[in-house]
Formats: sequence, C-alpha cells, structure tokens
Amino acid sequence: MTQPIAGFSKLSKEGKIDWLVSTFFKDSDQAKSVLQQYINSDQKLQQLHDEFIENTISNYYLPLGVAPNFLINGKLYAIPMAIEESSVVAAASKAAKFWYDRGGFKTKVISTEKIGQVHFICRKNTETIKAFFADIKPKLILEAKSITKNMEKRGGGILDIKLRDKTKEMPGYFQLHASFETLDAMGANFINSCLEQFAKTLKQEADRVLDGQLDVVMSILSNYVPNCLVRAEVSCNVSELTENTNISAEEFAKKMVQAVSIAEIEPYRAVTHNKGIMNGIDAVVLATGNDFRAVEAGIHAYAAKDGQYRSLTHAKVENGVFTFWMEIPLALGTVGGLTKLHPLVKWALELLGQPSAKELMQIVAVAGLAQNFAALRSLTTTGIQEGHMKMHLMNIMNQFRASSDEKASLVAHFKNHIVSHSAVEDALIDLRKN
Ligand code: MEV
Repeated sequence: MTQPIAGFSKLSKEGKIDWLVSTFFKDSDQAKSVLQQYINSDQKLQQLHDEFIENTISNYYLPLGVAPNFLINGKLYAIPMAIEESSVVAAASKAAKFWYDRGGFKTKVISTEKIGQVHFICRKNTETIKAFFADIKPKLILEAKSITKNMEKRGGGILDIKLRDKTKEMPGYFQLHASFETLDAMGANFINSCLEQFAKTLKQEADRVLDGQLDVVMSILSNYVPNCLVRAEVSCNVSELTENTNISAEEFAKKMVQAVSIAEIEPYRAVTHNKGIMNGIDAVVLATGNDFRAVEAGIHAYAAKDGQYRSLTHAKVENGVFTFWMEIPLALGTVGGLTKLHPLVKWALELLGQPSAKELMQIVAVAGLAQNFAALRSLTTTGIQEGHMKMHLMNIMNQFRASSDEKASLVAHFKNHIVSHSAVEDALIDLRKN
C-alpha cells in the first residue's frame, strides 16, 4: 500500500515528479516525459505558471479558440474562448454571424453591487444588538479607511453595511451584510479585507460594550450577486428566422419559445439548458482570467432564486417579433488577479479592446446567450448529434492517430455517414487495408 508522504511541498519540482512517477505509475519514464512535454522551455514563463499555485509539476493546456463577428451594441468583437468541448466555438461563431445579419446583440448592465458578510453569534437580545450596531457602524467604516481609500478615490468602496437578524433560523446568529462597488476589479481581496477589518472592529467594540458576548464565526464575500446584473438580448422579425432550418420560420419561432418554456418549468431540462449557456460563459470567463467557479456558483443560485431551478434565458413572439434574452449576475474583473500576469489573459483582454468590467459583463452574457440560441436551434431542428459528431470526428480520428490524408478521406466519407466511435474505427481499418 502507498504510504503518505511528509513534506511533499518542500520537495523541488523534480523531487515531486520523481516521487509521483515512482509511486503511482507503471512506466515512470513515460509518465515523466508526459509532464515534461508540457513544461515551457521559456524558463521565465514557466516560473510564472509555477508560482500561480502550489505544488506545480507541469502545465495543463486547454485550447484557446476565437468566435469572430459578434456585434454588441453596434461594436464588433472577436471573442476569446478557452474550452475543451468541441462544437462550442463553432456554435458561438455561427450564432454570432446569424445575429450580425439581424442587428446584433443589445446589452445593458443593470447593477454592479457585490456582497460580503461577517457571520457572528451574539446571545444579547435583538434590540440591544440593533442599538449596538447603530452606534458602531460609523466606526466600522472609519476603521476600514486604509483599505478603502484608494477604491474610494476611483469612485468605489463600501456602499452600505446592514445588520441582519437570523436568530429565527439559528439561535444567536446575526450578520453584518455589506455591499460594495469594486469598479473594474472583481474585488474578492478588497471585500475580504474590508470584512476582516469589520470583524475586528465588531469584536473589539463588543468586548468593550457587550461584555464580550459576541463571537465572530467567519468573514467572507458572497458569490451570490443578484444585484450585479447584466442583460443581453436579440430580436428580429419572425420571418427573418429561416436560415438553415428544415422547418418554417413560424414553426421555428414557436419551437424556440416552447423549448425555453420547458426549461423555465422543468428542472431536469433547465440544468442542461443552463449548462449550454455556461459553455459560452465559462469559456470567456476562463480566457479573460476570471474565476469561473465563482461565476458558476452565482449564476446557478440565481437560476433558483424563486425556489425552483429555472432557465436563465427567456423567449417570446409578440407582434411578429421574436425576442430572446437573458439576465444573469456576473462579478468580473479586468484589473487585478491574473489580468496583468497571465500572457494569454492579457492577450485576450487586448483582443477585446481592454474592456472595463462592465463591458466584459456584457460580452460574457452575449457569449452565453449565443451559445443557448445555437443549442436550441440545433435541438429544435436537426437535433444536436449531427453537428456534434462531425466535430467529434476530429477527436476520434486523433485518438486513432489518423494521418492528414486519412483525416481528409474520413471527413469526406462521414459527410454521408453517421459518426460513431466504432464507425470511425471500422472506416479507418478499411482505409488502411486499401
Ligand atoms: C452540451 O454541452 C450542451 C447542450 O446539451 C445544451 C442544451 O441541451 O441546451 C447541447
């Protein structure tokens, strides 16, 4: 049985790799060479990546693709997408072109408020705590000044702090519920530093005034940001919806609205529907160096805000006009974090014209809406597998190490045949026999 290792983090990179390959792999030389082929020969670049996290042993690549021709509020963008799933970039590009010809995407940032909380337990009665909070609120803000002053100079900072009584849900449980404006920063460090300072002041004052009968449990930002909202929309006359569908424009519009309605009422469908939206969102969030886990958590919570998990997008036909839209919470940054560190993130932000956080919110929302439009268009017309399997063909051919000539023959062959793993294998065997 493998024994635990003490001091793994203290080993050099080579030491870590040697221990891993000799402990967990049959062919340690081969295992080592797989890691090594992903280590960058530019030592400075490699060191940069090594230092992003702990215990780095190699780099993990994802393809960076670009979906061009996105017209958003009259401005043209080529959108960077980091994703492993085939079809996503192709679908985004197709949807971009489709809507480019119909006036493009219209977007609007509705609000930009972020949230953080200090969770604490206090056994004093609610009225005493309310009076205590009213007394110390100015001090909470004042003692965080060294953290907030730069943000305030730029127009951001603490918006408000409220006391929330949660004692009905848990005895003695209260919160300082704080809201923030963090401008172009995602703001996680700023918010968490403010909160930890609030917690310190809160505890000190409670020790002085409330006989120490207050315990802080934790201080942390919330990834639920229902007041950091962006809206993206497309619309056109129903008669303009015909392109590349095997059904009439009216039928297509009707099916799109039905498909969205199903995702609005049926959680099993809603999860997959929203997963398709996240294909677009995560890919841009990742390419621009933002925290896709935070975005995922916040968006899914928003999808369940009325107690049932529902579709994030909506569709309607009114007076012969088809409208398709989405409102989602997005806490993003275009300064701080990886934005000035990771060369590909810098590149992606330059490709987008150095957007502000608000502009990036709109671009990301559009990528999500476009992805959902493309998925629903396939699902309600040809079905998803036709396009998917064609893209998947490349992955299968690569698995079988098909040569360029073999790939060309197989692509031609599968124009008229259904792609499956075994069908590709059989076709390749036939090809190689001949
Ligand atoms: C696949 O990654 C995403 C879809 O399943 C989304 C959907 O069903 O709407 C195609």
